[in-house]
Amino acid sequence: MSRGIFITATGTGIGKTVITAGLALALQDYGFDVGIMKPVQSGHEIDSPESDGMILKELVGITESIETVVTYSFPEPVAPQLAAEIAETEIDRMRILQHLEERKAKHDVVLVEGAGGLMVPIRNGYSVADLAKEIGWPLLIVANPLLGTVNHTVLTTLVARHMGLHPMGVILNGLRETDEDPSVAHNSRFIEQMAQVPVLGTVPWLGEAITSHTVRQVICQHVNMTELIKSIDY
Ligand SMILES: Nc1ncnc2c1ncn2[C@@H]1O[C@H](COP(=O)(O)OP(=O)(O)OP(=O)(O)O)[C@@H](O)[C@H]1O
Ligand SMILES: [Mg+2]
Repeated sequence: MSRGIFITATGTGIGKTVITAGLALALQDYGFDVGIMKPVQSGHEIDSPESDGMILKELVGITESIETVVTYSFPEPVAPQLAAEIAETEIDRMRILQHLEERKAKHDVVLVEGAGGLMVPIRNGYSVADLAKEIGWPLLIVANPLLGTVNHTVLTTLVARHMGLHPMGVILNGLRETDEDPSVAHNSRFIEQMAQVPVLGTVPWLGEAITSHTVRQVICQHVNMTELIKSIDY
């Protein structure tokens, strides 16, 4: 039986890639064989060291080719549908789902990193949320820990449920010691009350020190892995 998590965020650049890598390493500590997939990335060639796929491959220590992680990669740094249009092509959802079947056959758990947030277009009215719905796995939402996050996170959760998705939890990412924001201590509570979704942890900002060791460590220290694993063990 294959299991997995679809990782989305309240927007682009919130920390999906960093959290996905950390979760993969933490889940390995719990004995899972973890696969990673990034169906569509834009802004880089597939083998660029700055691309999400290569960052995931590097941090998680994946030795297979980058094509086992990334289905589509477009050089333009725009949403997938537009990036595909500029490259004069279209994204074929069946190719993504076929790629996922290959990953599922090889691993106990597969983590799929979305692109941007849920309402990002992939092709002709088909969004990241539509892809997540077809995949059918629980949805993990990565969000900012600061003022404004309650609104963004609750909106994402509501849209997710409206689209038939199952939000399993929220991870707040990137809290800096220097952040002076009185909402920080309360945002998790309001998200849980308003969205009826557990906040599984708040991950600190690592600065330049992002390595396999540090991302694994912050996830193990700051994320409730027991509850996260329960949500995928359905
Ligand atoms: N906890 C953290 N500590 C330090 N840097 C972080 C942390 N989380 C994210 N970053 C940095 O912030 C930037 C955005 O993070 P990331 O690439 O994980 O976001 P994303 O949601 O995957 O973005 P995209 O929508 O482009 O896929 C990256 O440069 C990343 O290294
Ligand atoms: Mg990313």
